[in-house]
Amino acid sequence: MMEAFLVRDGVLHCAGHSLERLAQEFGSPLYVYNGLAIKDRFQGLKRAVSPVDAEVFFAVKANSTLAVLQLLAGQGAGMEVVSGGELYRAREAGVPDERIVFDGVGKTAAEIRYALEGEIRFFAVESVGELNRLNQLALEAGRRARVSLRINPDIDPQTHRYISTGKRENKFGFDFGGIRAAYDHADELDHLEVVGLHMHIGSQILSNQPHAQALAKIRPLVEELKERFANFRYLDIGGGLGIRYRPEDQPLIPERFAEAILPELAGLDLQVMLEPGRYLVGDCGVLVTRVEYVKQGGAKRFVVCDAAMNDLMRPMMYQAYHEIVPVRATGGERTPVDVVGAICETGDFFAEDRPLEAVEPGTFLAVMCAGAYAFTMASNYNTRPRGAEVLVDERGARLVRRRETWADLIALERPYCEEQDERQGF
Ligand code: LLP
Repeated sequence: MMEAFLVRDGVLHCAGHSLERLAQEFGSPLYVYNGLAIKDRFQGLKRAVSPVDAEVFFAVKANSTLAVLQLLAGQGAGMEVVSGGELYRAREAGVPDERIVFDGVGKTAAEIRYALEGEIRFFAVESVGELNRLNQLALEAGRRARVSLRINPDIDPQTHRYISTGKRENKFGFDFGGIRAAYDHADELDHLEVVGLHMHIGSQILSNQPHAQALAKIRPLVEELKERFANFRYLDIGGGLGIRYRPEDQPLIPERFAEAILPELAGLDLQVMLEPGRYLVGDCGVLVTRVEYVKQGGAKRFVVCDAAMNDLMRPMMYQAYHEIVPVRATGGERTPVDVVGAICETGDFFAEDRPLEAVEPGTFLAVMCAGAYAFTMASNYNTRPRGAEVLVDERGARLVRRRETWADLIALERPYCEEQDERQGF
């Protein structure tokens, strides 16, 4: 597996470009993605599952920047979307509808209508209410909508409880015991065509067992559905492959994943689909941030950065661990510090009590594994503009999203007083 970021002459580089230089050129906070590594992850996964007829889709929620979608689509990736907005992005990125699936537990009528303007591969439906709504809207659009039903296989993916999705108590999918009845119902609706089954059991899964267990559990059902529905041809097994956040993590590499799932898929004669997000981009991105201050508190030492929880929510939301390294190594002794942002919340930290080389204000840190669920979960809290994004590949380093300005942040607002209206030219 290609390393996405390498130290050269003491400075962290991305595909031959110094992160220090990039931060000086494009400013910070800066998300930097290694496009070569993203292609490497995609091709590696595709190769590993190639013994069966398998396609790799990308979960757009992990990183929905158009350039990233285009890069992946160019490799042959399809797109898994969970909102009208993500569908819009995928279409704007030029992804053909046939390579788009629409998942999600709460699709609105407007989103479904928008999807029905084209011919997406299928809707992954999660409730009877959604089946009925989709049927009605397909009727109004004069169409038949292709559907896969999402099963909740009640498997414990052994991950953080906020990102576990395939257990009975989770809101996702049809209950294992009730899904046959749901397929019966779908069969009765004239404007739906059953084409497959969908599952996604959770995220950041490091063992290769949960997917295999889920597949073993659903296989009799899949075989039955294949017999029953003439056009049943897709088995979408979701995403969830975990990456290395901590040095000691064993990432779920494609070979180990394939080894466990391929035997469960053998002989099924279906089009298998995967829809990972994190695996394809997670370790291919970093968040570069400038040290603003180093401050000694009463009990702790703080490194205060220009990036904050609004740029990377994961530590605050999931107590997630992200490696943090000085972009230019100082070689100094490591002492425990809290790496924090400027936001007025005590929970605004990237790391607590983390041994870090001594760093000076004005130097840069890289928060690793910020390619997935970083920018896409960023907010403007504290009226902080979201950072710029740079994509690096064989053609060089390109700005793929400019930094937001303060003006961007109020652009959608309307003033309260009329006089101000004129004065400020709203
Ligand atoms: N398919 C479905 C239906 C999903 O809900 C998800 C992720 C994926 C695929 C992609 O999962 P992945 O391969 O990336 O694990 N914000 C959290 C992760 C939430 C994942 C939600 N669903 C985080 O930062 O860890």
